[in-house]
Amino acid sequence: MKRTPIVAGNWKMNLLGSDVVAYAEALAAAGPPETDVDIVLFPTPVYLAAAARAMLEWASVGAQDVHAEEKGAYTGDVAAAQARDAGAAWALAGHSERRQYHGESNVEVARKAERTLGVGLTPVVCVGETLEQRQQGETEAILDAQLAPVLAVLDAADGDTEGGAVLAYEPVWAIGTGLSASPEIAAAVHSHLRRALNDYRSGLGDAARILYGGSVNADNCVDLLGRPDIDGFLIGGASLDPASFLRIIRLCAGSGSGPAP
Ligand code: 13P
Repeated sequence: MKRTPIVAGNWKMNLLGSDVVAYAEALAAAGPPETDVDIVLFPTPVYLAAAARAMLEWASVGAQDVHAEEKGAYTGDVAAAQARDAGAAWALAGHSERRQYHGESNVEVARKAERTLGVGLTPVVCVGETLEQRQQGETEAILDAQLAPVLAVLDAADGDTEGGAVLAYEPVWAIGTGLSASPEIAAAVHSHLRRALNDYRSGLGDAARILYGGSVNADNCVDLLGRPDIDGFLIGGASLDPASFLRIIRLCAGSGSGPAP
């Protein structure tokens, strides 16, 4: 099964409205978008609608987070339906910064992913271990625990959504540190995750796109994407500058992953 690579930029809490417009102009000026890569941008929520309008055919956009409840008295939060209404097609669930700074549990992450799916957005479920957990030899156990409550959601996303089942492996120790996981380390984890998905339902793992995130840049993306189980990237810092993001997109184009059909 051929899996179309995803190159996604997570802007986190960066950039202003004028930057979003300039970013879109830079993408448009680069010519028509690559057709064999799915390009996604995750702006801060206040710029979601503007980004969705500005990126036109170049990129789809997604929410960095949505609330687990449908709607209600949750000051400062964004409902999945609102994100969709603002133009999102995707939503992250369980980014490590949400788990770390907002205390999101594995179960809450699964509820958010389910809510995302319920309004027709494709959830991008993020998992990853800390440095301490890796050093203690707990990586697979941590990932399995993070994965367990979201397996049913990923299964439903495969087939029910345009994006299908999408997971992002983001080792916490590699995020924003400049210390990317080696292709060997990332490949081993991706293969473990794919096996876990296939164990849940045969074929789910083969169909799922598993992204790597953590200090991805133009210098390391080709090696990483060359591994059979790495289907693209969720990029923080290197996605803030359109030239750098474009360089990564160009390098990833034409390298659809997975065994040939
Ligand atoms: P960096 O690419 O800045 O390490 O961030 C990765 C990330 O957290 C993307 O969601």
